[in-house]
Amino acid sequence: MLNIKTVAALAQEIKRVKESGKTIGFVPTMGALHQGHLTLVKQAREACDYVIVSVFVNPNQFNNAEDLARYPRDLERDEALLKTVGCELLFAPNVKEVYPQEDKRIFNFGMLENVMEGKHRPGHFNGVAQVVSRLFELIPADKAFFGLKDFQQLAVIQAMVKQLKLNVEIVPCPIVREQSGLAMSSRNMLLEDLQRKNAPLIAKTLLDSCNFVAHKSVDDLKTSVIQQINAVEGLEVEYFEVVDGQTLQAIQNWDDSSYVVACIAVYAGKIRLIDNVIYKNS
Ligand code: PAJ
Repeated sequence: MLNIKTVAALAQEIKRVKESGKTIGFVPTMGALHQGHLTLVKQAREACDYVIVSVFVNPNQFNNAEDLARYPRDLERDEALLKTVGCELLFAPNVKEVYPQEDKRIFNFGMLENVMEGKHRPGHFNGVAQVVSRLFELIPADKAFFGLKDFQQLAVIQAMVKQLKLNVEIVPCPIVREQSGLAMSSRNMLLEDLQRKNAPLIAKTLLDSCNFVAHKSVDDLKTSVIQQINAVEGLEVEYFEVVDGQTLQAIQNWDDSSYVVACIAVYAGKIRLIDNVIYKNS
């Protein structure tokens, strides 16, 4: 596996791969890799001839300096893990390589970015769009793989690809969970003991709530989920929304949409965790 850090070396290798006629599968990440990431890489491996993974902690998408400073980083471990899943190229640039000049572009994703993560992390999706569009410019992938764990991010990236008329297929991949149900996340390793012990209750409550869909109103279900999670020591819900899976706007009644997704953000101590579940998609 190649480990490339500069745009110049990347361009050379891309030229070589393109000339050989191979299809490129791309998995952008911020490192501190876990099975969730590796599952994306395996999907890329199956679908494409040549697999590229980027590891770059993008400062532009952090709206909180403390969160950026404590974001876990372990490139050596990432490299070793990527070798086990058949990645051909690891691209791990520094900030200057990705942003030789400050990126001042302002994207407009309308309603998609005014809710949930967009509302609680101002500027976050603009930073995500900046880095992903820059990476797509450097890596002309046929397919790029993104996790449904970040449901809203996926919607924003699909909108960005349309807006910029990019020629890349976005492939959504299912959420990978620990045995406890907790959605895998690089931030899980930052949890203190109590929060670590209690964090699986987020997923448990969310997944159990699927059984209430037929029996409770949307409002009653929301209240019940929020109460159950807030009752757990060390957990505090930031938002819990039941939304249309396409527009991401909150629904009032179950019949308002045929694609209904519940999205949640919870503080486990200082660490912010997100998760979601699809209630229906018919
Ligand atoms: P990061 O959080 O490292 O995630 C990289 C990719 O892995 C994203 O597509 C994310 O949805 C996916 N992923 C993370 N945990 C997952 C899980 N438990 N199951 C399935 N997929 C999972 O998301 C980002 O980085 C950044 O915003 C990025 C897109 C790289 C732009 O900087």
